[in-house]
Amino acid sequence: MFETLKAQPADKILALMQLYRDDPRETKVDLGVGVYKDATGLTPVMRAVKAAEHKLWETQDSKVYTGLAGDPAFADAMFTMLLGDAVPRNTTAAAATPGGTGACRQAFEMIQMARPDARVFVSDPTWPNHLSILKYLNIEVVPYRYFDEETRGVDFDGMIADLKTAKKGDVVLLHGCCHNPTGANLNAAEWDAVIEVLLQTGATPMIDIAYQGFGDGLEADAAATRKVAAAVPECLIAASCSKNFGIYRERTGLLMVVAADTSALTLNQGTLAFLNRQNYSFPPDHGARLVTMILNDDALRADWMAELEEVRNTMLGLRTALASELQKLSGSDRFGFLAQHRGMFSRLGTTPDKVEALRDKHGIYMVGDSRMNIAGLNAESVPILARAIIDVGI
Ligand code: LMR
Repeated sequence: MFETLKAQPADKILALMQLYRDDPRETKVDLGVGVYKDATGLTPVMRAVKAAEHKLWETQDSKVYTGLAGDPAFADAMFTMLLGDAVPRNTTAAAATPGGTGACRQAFEMIQMARPDARVFVSDPTWPNHLSILKYLNIEVVPYRYFDEETRGVDFDGMIADLKTAKKGDVVLLHGCCHNPTGANLNAAEWDAVIEVLLQTGATPMIDIAYQGFGDGLEADAAATRKVAAAVPECLIAASCSKNFGIYRERTGLLMVVAADTSALTLNQGTLAFLNRQNYSFPPDHGARLVTMILNDDALRADWMAELEEVRNTMLGLRTALASELQKLSGSDRFGFLAQHRGMFSRLGTTPDKVEALRDKHGIYMVGDSRMNIAGLNAESVPILARAIIDVGI
């Protein structure tokens, strides 16, 4: 029966990972998939995660099922980390999901259940898997302008003009911080203007926040999400622990549905539990339990926050180093945006043939749209990349 299947397009980011693995050159540089790497190229298990795993091994006496929405203690700890006191806890439904991707998938399904004809507005560009899942679910996508190819910042006027065409029953997908793939982000005043448009149009925001702590700090990176959640009657928040806890393969994420008051809580919570049951029953627990232990233990939490800050500052240092190296080599400030961008990624803003030339000639791997994972760099590869960028004529 399966001869009727059609080959599916490969995910560009994952296909690049394979190409890199197959490249025999020792000097190759991987700036593809979004994983943090330290100066030695390792994606380490964070200290607090190791300590929590150790403690868990010693103390856990059962692996019996949790609830369909995961352990409520995980939802509580994540709620506090993400939303602080921006909205009351008892207006917010929450369920653990397999990673941030699982949270996005469940959010899209919930949107479709509620409004089969909902359109989802997405930034142009956005994380390719947003588009892939939306297409798979047959949900109409409306791109809104986001990246200014000239300045490599946000095309804010274009964004606002496009968001004004949304209406009640539509969803506007926003990146809470550290925009993937561009690295270009809204400032506080621009977020206020976006909120104004959301209130005018009645469209529902959905915030994907996968990099809290990678931009300007754990609290600062949550500021926009908090502001949106407090201002609008309803919103969806898809959060990932893959990057900030470095537990990629544990698949740890959370979907929250914030409502205006407590009356919708039972319905929203029941819907999240139902959707989990249909798709995979109980969400994975191991990563969620580690996160809960870390967030609820003062010493573990302090150590995790300190290491997260080291990671963030390393990435900022690499940004500054690359921008200044390129400033030297090019004799111009046209790469200054690299130091302004935040998070793991920066979109270089060049053509696919130049991205290919970087790969073929220099063994430097970045996504075809010229998204670079800044965390894939180190002190040694920064000047190599800078020379290669100039060499291929970017
Ligand atoms: C990325 O954008 O590289 C990461 O979010 C990993 C992924 O799943 O694509």
